[in-house]
Amino acid sequence: VVRVLQEADSDAAAVQIESLLKTDQALAAKILRVVNSAYYGLSCHVSSLSQAVIILGLPQVRNLVLSVSALSMMKARTPRQRDIQRLFWRHALASSATAQIIAQQKRFSSSDEELVFIGGLLHDIGRLFLFTNFTDTYQEAVRYAEQAAVPVEVAEQRLLGMDHTEIGFELANMWHFPAPLAQVIKMHEGPFTGETPLPALAVHVADRLARESGHGETVPQTYDMDPVASRWLNLSDDDLLVLMADADERVRDVFQSLGFAQAA
Ligand SMILES: [Fe+2]
Ligand SMILES: [Fe+2]
Repeated sequence: VVRVLQEADSDAAAVQIESLLKTDQALAAKILRVVNSAYYGLSCHVSSLSQAVIILGLPQVRNLVLSVSALSMMKARTPRQRDIQRLFWRHALASSATAQIIAQQKRFSSSDEELVFIGGLLHDIGRLFLFTNFTDTYQEAVRYAEQAAVPVEVAEQRLLGMDHTEIGFELANMWHFPAPLAQVIKMHEGPFTGETPLPALAVHVADRLARESGHGETVPQTYDMDPVASRWLNLSDDDLLVLMADADERVRDVFQSLGFAQAA
């Protein structure tokens, strides 16, 4: 991942990205499946990564490589972990699709649109890390949150001394993710002010809407949308339903193309 990021930053040719990915065929195949899914809505079939770079652009492909590899880095060791990861992926994809639609409606620049796309995918990476590596402790935190009726972030703080946004931020830095992406991961749970960068607001709102659509994380809790973020979004209930249905359609298709069973 780090090599792909460095190459992309130095304006390397598509061919070089492709040759880097030749060392990981499973990853390359997964990326092509995603590129060809309805998520991107392309009218032609893309058969190579260099073709994908020409059609989607280098930053988009770089983002894809980054997110698909980061998320497949955490191997599930038990059926329980596999279930957790499946839920996580669905939440990630729903958040990402929703965030991208919001970015388009709010006329974000193309680089900010890419940022919220990948931010949607990776915002809860800290939670996935905790669940995968400290499954029992994390489940204890979830139970604590339910019993004490506090947000899971509070339970994470009390039991682990850190919440998933801070852990996600540390991971993002360790993996040399771009700084704006690390910032979105750190800020996505709020609270927000008038100064908050818009990509963080977009990912927060997308996270809440994804849960509302039934694409929640592992934690069966609902959270309200931050009032600052909600005011910024400024959509009627009808518009929200259209947005959620649109995102839902994209999620179903990409979920299958990534090799997951149909969403429950
Ligand atoms: Fe989160
Ligand atoms: Fe989330």
